[in-house]
Amino acid sequence: MSTVLTIANLAGGTTKTTTAHNLAVAFSEYGKKVLLIDLDAKGDLTFTLGAEAARFTIADLLTMNASSDSAVISSQERFDFIPGSSHVNNVSDKEKFASLLTKFSEKYDVIILDTPSTPSAGLVMALEVADSVLYPICLTTAAFRGAHRIHSLVGSHFTEMAFLKTDGFRNSRLEKEIAQTFDLLDCEISSSEEIRESTNTILSVLSTSKNSVIASSYRELAYSVLEKFSLI
Ligand SMILES: Nc1ncnc2c1ncn2[C@@H]1O[C@H](COP(=O)(O)OP(=O)(O)OP(=O)(O)O)[C@@H](O)[C@H]1O
Ligand SMILES: [Mg+2]
Repeated sequence: MSTVLTIANLAGGTTKTTTAHNLAVAFSEYGKKVLLIDLDAKGDLTFTLGAEAARFTIADLLTMNASSDSAVISSQERFDFIPGSSHVNNVSDKEKFASLLTKFSEKYDVIILDTPSTPSAGLVMALEVADSVLYPICLTTAAFRGAHRIHSLVGSHFTEMAFLKTDGFRNSRLEKEIAQTFDLLDCEISSSEEIRESTNTILSVLSTSKNSVIASSYRELAYSVLEKFSLI
């Protein structure tokens, strides 16, 4: 049985897509079988992974009777990936998506869903099927509010976790508020030049700068999440 992990925040640019990609690689390094799905109509993850010309996307799987494996691409970093589509919000179908994930459930330990910053149909679908939601939160009121709005958007059938993305500045009042609101994981991700450099390739920073501090931080984050899922 796989665990469905949705990465979400209604504030833009809080590192959802980067987190989804890096966790997919880090979970794979820990020996987990991982499926990553792009549910953002913007398709940033699909672009990052060089899959914009893919024949089938998640939208095809939600609308056609195509075999569920037809859209699955094996990445160079050992996880599998289903590309996104600009049509995903028009075809979002919670029941169909849930049954698709059930088909994948035998094959994968973790299914990671990357979501948009807009309260769209794709995001709601990703929240409805989630076992757990992870909020990347930058130290800004907008990012805290963006996580908090998700938190109250679609009931509370999933578990929730958050982590801080910091850029050198602290804000103890906001950090306290975040810690009082969310299950805040004890590992932070800081701003890193290596991440910016890795955006020129389809690989994550765990491959392009294996021994960097940022790569270790993502491995720690992945370990904490797997511990929460009792998968390690
Ligand atoms: N640790 C980091 N250090 C420096 N830059 C980072 C880091 N993590 C992500 N970035 C950069 O920040 C930008 C926003 O990241 P990302 O696209 O992952 O955010 P997002 O939440 O998915 O955005 P959106 O809301 O548009 O989907 C990207 O250019 C990314 O390369
Ligand atoms: Mg994104």
